[in-house]
This record gives sequence, C-alpha cells and structure tokens, in this order.
Amino acid sequence: MNNNKWWKEAFGYQIYIRSFYDANNDGIGDLQGITEKLPYLSYLGVNLIWICPFYKSPMDDNGYDVMDFYAVDKTYGTLEDFKVLVEEAHKRGIRVIIDLILNHTSDEHSWFIESRKSKDNPYRDYYIWRPPRYDELGNRKEPTNWASFFGGGCWEYDEQTDEYYMKIFSKKMPDLNWENHQVQEEMVKVAKYWLDLGVDGFRVDAVAHLAKAPFVDSDMPTNYRYTPDWGRFSNLPKLHEYLKMMRKKAFSGYDLMVVGEVGGGALVEDALKYSAPEEEELDMVFNFDHNWCNNSWSAKDRTELKINVPHLKEMFDKWQTGLFGKAWNAIYWLNHDQPRVVTHYGDDEGPLHDRSAKALAVALYFMWGTPFIYNGEEIGMTNPHFKSIADFQDVSFITQYYLNIQNGTDPEAYIAHASLSTRDNARTLMQWNDGLHGGFTKGTPWNLINENYRTINVESQIKDPNSILNFYRKIIEIRTKSPFRNIIIYGSYELIEKEHNQIYAYLRRFEGRNLLVLCNLTKEAATVDKLPYTLEERVLGTMDKQININKKMVLEPYEAYVLEIKEEI
Ligand code: NOJ
Repeated sequence: MNNNKWWKEAFGYQIYIRSFYDANNDGIGDLQGITEKLPYLSYLGVNLIWICPFYKSPMDDNGYDVMDFYAVDKTYGTLEDFKVLVEEAHKRGIRVIIDLILNHTSDEHSWFIESRKSKDNPYRDYYIWRPPRYDELGNRKEPTNWASFFGGGCWEYDEQTDEYYMKIFSKKMPDLNWENHQVQEEMVKVAKYWLDLGVDGFRVDAVAHLAKAPFVDSDMPTNYRYTPDWGRFSNLPKLHEYLKMMRKKAFSGYDLMVVGEVGGGALVEDALKYSAPEEEELDMVFNFDHNWCNNSWSAKDRTELKINVPHLKEMFDKWQTGLFGKAWNAIYWLNHDQPRVVTHYGDDEGPLHDRSAKALAVALYFMWGTPFIYNGEEIGMTNPHFKSIADFQDVSFITQYYLNIQNGTDPEAYIAHASLSTRDNARTLMQWNDGLHGGFTKGTPWNLINENYRTINVESQIKDPNSILNFYRKIIEIRTKSPFRNIIIYGSYELIEKEHNQIYAYLRRFEGRNLLVLCNLTKEAATVDKLPYTLEERVLGTMDKQININKKMVLEPYEAYVLEIKEEI
C-alpha cells in the first residue's frame, strides 16, 4: 500500500459537462466553460478532474451514446478546446481523466450503421445480434427474457435483417460484442488516442457489463414482463480477460489512473479481481452500495426520506476493511446518476442544511481511497422539485415513466415517488451565483435550475467563511497538504461505536498517529459514551464548540469532528 502513486494522493472532482458552465451561451455546458472555471477548481483545491463524455453523440443519454470516439461533440466545443483545457489544467497541477465507454456505442455510430445493414456486413459481429424466437401462437419474442437497465427488455428488434440486437441501456445504445477481437483492437486504439493527447486516465463506464452470459432465459422470479437478472451481464469472469488485455495493450507505458464503474452487483471479492494490483486490470472501482442506504427507492415522497445510519456504516465498513492492503479504493457520495447527497441523507430544506452537508463531508472524506466530489456537492446543492414529465431529461426516467403510465400507474404519484431517485436530480445547472440562470449561461439553458440557486450558490459561499464551500476547501487542504495527510491517505481504518444508530465513528491510524472521526448523521441529538482516548488536537468540526471525549457527550444534530487522539489515556 505504500507505493505512492499520484492518484492515491489526489483529490478528485467530477464534472458533468452539460450542466457545469456554458462559455459560449448556447445553453449547454462546454469544454471552454471548464477551462474558464479552472481557477475556481484551484481555489477549491482539487487536483484531479473527471469530465463526463464530450464525444460526438446524438445525446440520447447525454453523451454516453457515442457516435465517434475520436471527435468532440460540437455542442461541447472542439478538439482544440480540449487540448487547451488539458494544458491549462496541467499548468495548475490538475490531472484530467475522461470517460472511456467500452460497453456500447450510439446506434448512429458508423460501426452500427454498417452492422445493421446485412448479416454478412464486415461490422455485423461488432454488436450482439440474435434471431427472434416464436411462441406457440407464432408471435415473435426476444432471444431472452432479460430486462434492460433503462426499462423494457434488453433486446431491440431490427426489421432490416429480422434479428434483435442487444442493448442493456437505451435502444439507441447497442452493446458491443467484446468477444470480437476487432472490437477489442478498436477500443485499444481509442484509449491510446486520448492518452497520447495527454489525458491522465479514465473512468471506465459500465465496465462490469462487457461480458454476457449464454443467452438463455432467466428463471429468477419476477412480477415484471422482463426479468431484472443483472447477473446475466454483470461481473462475469470473461471480462477480466478483456481488462487484462486493455491494461497490457492500451494502458501500459502511461502514468495513468483507471477507475472502473462496477455498480450495484459487485462484491468486495469482485472488486479485488478488478483492482488488486497483481491482477493488472484497473486501479480502483466505484461501487454503488452506499447509494442505497435509505429508502429513496421506496419512499412515496420527500417527507418519507430517512437515513439509515447502521446500514450506511455497514456498507462503508465492508469496502474500507475489505480492500485495505489489497487494492485501492475510490470514495464518493454521489455522481451524475444519483440523487443529491444532502437530499438523500441530510436535511435538504430544513435549518440544518449546511450543517448536515458538512457532517456528511466529514463522514466520507476522512476515509481511505481516492475521493471524488460531484460538481455542486461542495455548495450543498439539493434535488429539485419536479412537477411534470416535461421537467425531466433523462432517457432512463422518461422510458420508465411511460412504461409505468401505460401499465396504469398514476402520473403524479409516479413522479412524486420516482423523482427521489431519478438521475435528473444531479443534472440541474451548476449554481454559480444568484443572477440569471444561476450564472450558468446567458442563453436558454438546456435543463432546469434548482429554485434555491438564489441562496445556494458559489459566489455567496466564497464570501462566507462558514459556508459549505469553505468547509470543503478546508477538508481538501487537510487531506492534500496538512501534516495529517498521510494518516488520511495511507492510514488503516477501524469502525468504532458499531452498534450506534446515529453515530458514524472511525479511527485512522498511521505510523503512531491517529485520527478519530466522529459524526452524528441524524437530525436528532445523539449520546456517546466517554471514549478511551486522549484528545491531542481538534482538526475540524461542524460546530464551534469545546469537546470533551472523556465524558459522556451529547452531540447535536449533524455535529461532527475530526480529532487527533492518542490511544492510551
Ligand atoms: C453509467 C453512466 O454513469 C450512466 O450515466 C450511463 O447512462 C450508463 N453508464 C450507460 O453508459
């Protein structure tokens, strides 16, 4: 664990380009917009950015549907703009990673346009085609009963050749056939192209899904028409061969980092296969476990949201201890596919908005692993209030909305419930100031802005020394520059107060020095028994109070600390 790589010591920041900053005022965020905001990112203190896709795309899934891996979409700028961005970021000591999308392309990619033309087209085998099945009545059926992540089945019928192609996301995102060596070679070329342009690595999209199981029906019990048996195309052994190939042929010879999105089904054991250094595949993975530790996928509306602290602790603990010393870890609260963390786990519209945002930051960013802030998190952005289907942009939400409405679900009830978890929550415009469209654009914005931009925005938080933004700056400084840096980056992790229902507390130990992280993650006061440590130094806190850990303590709602301690009293 002590072979120091730059990416172990980096502090990352994810940029959803479409919503971040619009420099040319066409209403859509762009590459020049990111370049213009580099001073802000330096001020924040991060030294690594992950930029979401800006490849040429018809934007069915906001760029995750790639039409040309070698071109920048004109709504985002030009290749020259990207080169300038990388150069300027590097001048500031900020590394740049981008999405590498291996699992699928757009149906408007030239490979797919060719592939669908005929069964003997040279590109046919770039994708996964299967003939239809027929039931007893002669009705055409999909090759398997498997569901797609975005609603409906994972096969789309194509009249031209009377076959189905596989698509585990939207029907405009056909899955690539990784068994085809030509596909593998193409993706090696793509990766090297961007590395040679100066990127410092990749976030590998949907990496868990490259290999598929044999195409037979799932017998998993379900009430749905298609079976959500994600194991049929997640974390299967064959994909490790593909990743070993990518490491060898595409990634070696560069000083890069590769973080894979392995999603919901991945176990710690899977993560070790992806990211233990001896496997020579990825450097670390994003798992989703902590994203599902409250009831936002079952609550009927916002008032029912409730954090489940024991579950959250269990999830973080599993990954912190399961990977320590064996593989590197990636830590984050949310990304462009998850609800805003303050709404999800904090007090998003109550008087404790700020304090809860800070407590959540304390809980996460003193763990080990490379951290990633998601744009807007550092000012405590919240989920918006969606009113009607017209407020949504996400292809996944919209597809599922119409499927549910067709099946008789009441539209308003569906929106109240599903809008708690929709990916659109994280995609509203970045709130730069209290002016027109929150300072995001002078044009007509492509998406909603959260109405609270007048009070929650970067400009006002820069001025306020007690703002969430300034609190995040302190965290980043402590983590990247302070004498506590090595404890936080390389120290061991131990969960304490395991059974406590409100408190998340852990110890970090490194070369004889220790940090105690102690957070009340609830809206209620919490009692903690006296702790058997000596307080050496208060490093950070969400409240300006004297604290005595050698007495029974009552921590106020979202009262949270990072303390240097000695273990023997
Ligand atoms: C995961 C990405 O994070 C998500 O936004 C996208 O829709 C899917 N992969 C498909 O590319």
